[in-house]
Amino acid sequence: ASHNVFQRATETALYLRTSLPDILHHPKVAIVCGSGLGGLAETIHPEPRIETAYANIPNFPRSTVQGHVGKLVFGLIGPAKTPAILLVGRAHFYEGHTMDLVTFATRVCKVMGVEIVIVTNAAGGLNQDYAVGDIVCLNDHLNMAGLVGIHPLRGPNIDDFGVRFPPLSDAYDLELRRRAHQAWKKLGLDKQKRQLHEGVYAFVAGPTYETRAECRMLRGFGADVVGMSTVPEIVVARHSGLRVLAFSLVTNNAVLEAGPRGDDEAIQAMSKDELGQHLSKGKANHGEVLEAGREAAKDMQQALVKQILSDLYP
Ligand code: 6GU
Repeated sequence: ASHNVFQRATETALYLRTSLPDILHHPKVAIVCGSGLGGLAETIHPEPRIETAYANIPNFPRSTVQGHVGKLVFGLIGPAKTPAILLVGRAHFYEGHTMDLVTFATRVCKVMGVEIVIVTNAAGGLNQDYAVGDIVCLNDHLNMAGLVGIHPLRGPNIDDFGVRFPPLSDAYDLELRRRAHQAWKKLGLDKQKRQLHEGVYAFVAGPTYETRAECRMLRGFGADVVGMSTVPEIVVARHSGLRVLAFSLVTNNAVLEAGPRGDDEAIQAMSKDELGQHLSKGKANHGEVLEAGREAAKDMQQALVKQILSDLYP
């Protein structure tokens, strides 16, 4: 039950500390690695490096999705050797976990002493200016599931973490976003084919990808990307006062055109070939999501994590 979430997070934090050297007992930064972005774990120094599978961590949810490994990696990051936690893989709501479980790792980070969370994810592009492989620094969100009651802070407020009615107007830390754009420029990545945008993330519960009509709706609402994670973690992070920086990797274009209708003369006249093309066109699939991640993960590692952290903790 939600009233003992603080206790359980504390218990898990204490358990994790038993296998960590003193210098890693109070990590300052947490990095959540989304689908195909586990390579971010290579940004930490090789020694000391302690990995723990989620399956072996008390109170943690088990990951059930292919290509989503689940492990915590503790280590030092950047020139100042800042203690950090990397979360490789995450629990999603569509897996059947409660919102408490989806956000549990974020709360453990808070209890361990983390100050800044960098969250990454794979998302569908709704903004037509975005290309597959582009990166979006989030500056706001639409909590579609949250607005209809699937919300991680529903239930008795946990005062140990934060207030009953937390504001979210400042959820995406402006100073951190500024650093992200500076880092991108400094590394000369702005002159390459991959772009760094700023945009709005729409959180949907999943697991289905959006229909064309849903894509048009979300675009109309002002969303630039759509995905099935990140927002619950960010809400819980902000509730407890953690500073947040979030990036989406655009892994595919979410479909926008209305598409053919059965009552149209043109569609009745369509050949079998044309029909087949329409059926395969624009369908989001998990394979392309993972593929785009491998490519762009390197830039994310270089610019958006290493460089930002080097500037933050010189
Ligand atoms: Cl198109 N939709 C959602 N909801 N999540 C995604 C995605 C699309 N592409 C990657 N993740």
